[in-house]
Amino acid sequence: MSDSHLHPVKPEWTKNALIDNETYLDWYKQSIDDPEAFWGQHGKRIDWFKPYSKVKNTDFSNGVSIKWFEDGVTNVAYNCIDRHLEKRGDQVALIWEADDPSKDKKITYRQLHDAVSRLGNVLREAGVKKGDRVTIYMPMIPEATYVMLACARIGAIHSVVFGGFSPDSLAGRIADCGSGVVITADEGLRGGKPIPLKANADRAIEIAKGQGFNVQTLLVVKHTGGQVRWVDGRDVWYHEATEKVSAECEPEQMNAEDPLFILYTSGSTGKPKGVLHTTGGYLVYASMTHQYVFDYHEGDIYWCTADVGWVTGHSYIVYGPLANGATTLIFEGVPNYPSPSRFWEVIDKHKVNIFYTAPTALRALMGAGNEHVAKTDRSSLRILGSVGEPINPEAWEWYFKVVGEERCPIVDTWWQTETGGILITPLPGATDLKAGSATRPFFGVKPELVDGDGKVLEGPTDGNLCIADSWPGQMRTVYGDHERFVQTYFSTYAGKYFTGDGCRRDEDGYYWITGRVDDVLNVSGHRMGTAEIESALVAHPKVSEAAVVGYPHDLKGQGIYCYVTLMAGEEWSDTLHKELVAHVRSEIGPIAAPDKIQFAPGLPKTRSGKIMRRILRKIAEDDYSALGDTSTLADPAVVDDLIANRQNRK
Ligand code: PRX
Repeated sequence: MSDSHLHPVKPEWTKNALIDNETYLDWYKQSIDDPEAFWGQHGKRIDWFKPYSKVKNTDFSNGVSIKWFEDGVTNVAYNCIDRHLEKRGDQVALIWEADDPSKDKKITYRQLHDAVSRLGNVLREAGVKKGDRVTIYMPMIPEATYVMLACARIGAIHSVVFGGFSPDSLAGRIADCGSGVVITADEGLRGGKPIPLKANADRAIEIAKGQGFNVQTLLVVKHTGGQVRWVDGRDVWYHEATEKVSAECEPEQMNAEDPLFILYTSGSTGKPKGVLHTTGGYLVYASMTHQYVFDYHEGDIYWCTADVGWVTGHSYIVYGPLANGATTLIFEGVPNYPSPSRFWEVIDKHKVNIFYTAPTALRALMGAGNEHVAKTDRSSLRILGSVGEPINPEAWEWYFKVVGEERCPIVDTWWQTETGGILITPLPGATDLKAGSATRPFFGVKPELVDGDGKVLEGPTDGNLCIADSWPGQMRTVYGDHERFVQTYFSTYAGKYFTGDGCRRDEDGYYWITGRVDDVLNVSGHRMGTAEIESALVAHPKVSEAAVVGYPHDLKGQGIYCYVTLMAGEEWSDTLHKELVAHVRSEIGPIAAPDKIQFAPGLPKTRSGKIMRRILRKIAEDDYSALGDTSTLADPAVVDDLIANRQNRK
């Protein structure tokens, strides 16, 4: 690696930092040598109604069982709100920045307590009990946070579904977890455009009904005031319901291992999995990583640009920051509306100190030109973060130099929906930075690189990234399907958690994530299974077969490249091309819209009928000179046709 991408810790970063390098090395060693003692101590960072006497009870073999702080009793909403009231009741908990730059709102911890308690009572009155599932399909407005916390308060398990998913996707998620209550808003607003959330939810509920699942209550926040259809007896206005109830709502006594939320995520096979996170370990881990990774200090204004529909929004907009008593900013809009200066203007407006965003946004803003950054002040910034996909060194250096003016360390945080919190990351006052590397493991995290046979590799090497032992924020199961959990994560390399990512470890022991090694795509930081897009395509009446692969995309990281074979007698045309793009958007959502579709008279298959994706990936990358051995193909001639009609010609 060239020295130009090495950025040693600056003395001013270490000066007031919570963790310096010596402390990092010392704590890391303790956490690996004696996890019981380490987490036994750090578990106390949250308040417990009944303290735990057991710390770690985890087994990555024998059916896989993961329990942390298992006899402790607590409540996540209590920890995120009530325990702060005495000291910081009047401190701002949430800053809401609307899509419209002239609108914002500040909510104190006391106001948050009021809103969440009322909503907890509304949900209890609607019959929601501890352990019941509630689906949340919301825009980025303060109420999205209230409803998550209200569920946590009464012990209901929330499942937040990103507002960009289609009615079909929403229906599948509602039915999978059996959620009798759904919460939405009339409309969302992004870049000035309304998003018909209520109409989508109506449709989703109808689809779920067709699948035999009945939603009893749809709670609706009035946000834009747009027209909505109303179903009497089922639909309830949020503002009317919350007015009628008391602002006192006793938090439920939750065992550390009681479920907190489900979040659906894509894997390499089948439909999305309901990743299940529980209460105690998750909150300890989310709050601890938030504090140390972002070097969070009392009074800091913290902004993570994610959507609450993704795990980053759960752990680092809501639960981690609020457990730490922070001021957390939630942003309804998009990076380039009304102009590509928006992020930096919001930073100036609210004096943001810590800023956490995704490489895809940075690449787009970098492309828009430095003048949009330069005209803003940004002097409040102290720490910059990146998440969601590998950050290319060019984008990293731009973030460092142009946005942070070389004053702010960048924490490139690697983690997953499944891990609950950040696993590999620099710590601002401790870690020398290398542009493009997520650097070193967080406390208690034991990464291992293994080869295809599961042999653990030592020293500088490439390999498949596994984690050898449990950490408190880890998912506990796939909702309703523990066997799938075991199969997906613990069977490839027995006794280890397999992340699905490829990774390189360099001569300094730094980790460089190279991307997924399975059939999962990362498109603009959104995770998508190729299998899901394929099944959406073959659901179209004119398509007989489809194969989807990723290819490098300058802005999105990866683009979606689809090969489709048509039913006999169907003709390929521009109209059909458009129809298929629209079809995938409506089956899954706009985030899954194909970038390229190639008509394929045949797909390259082995004699046993297996599609050779390696070849399809190469052709999609326009790198067909090195296709490797094609002699095992049933019909080698199909490859020539695919090459001749490839869509990504350089
Ligand atoms: O491939 C890795 C990539 O995103 C995947 C996890 O996606 P998801 O569950 O949606 O969670 C995203 C937010 C935590 C990982 O398997 N990924 C995430 N962060 C990074 C990353 N790849 C490289 N560097 C990162 N910092």
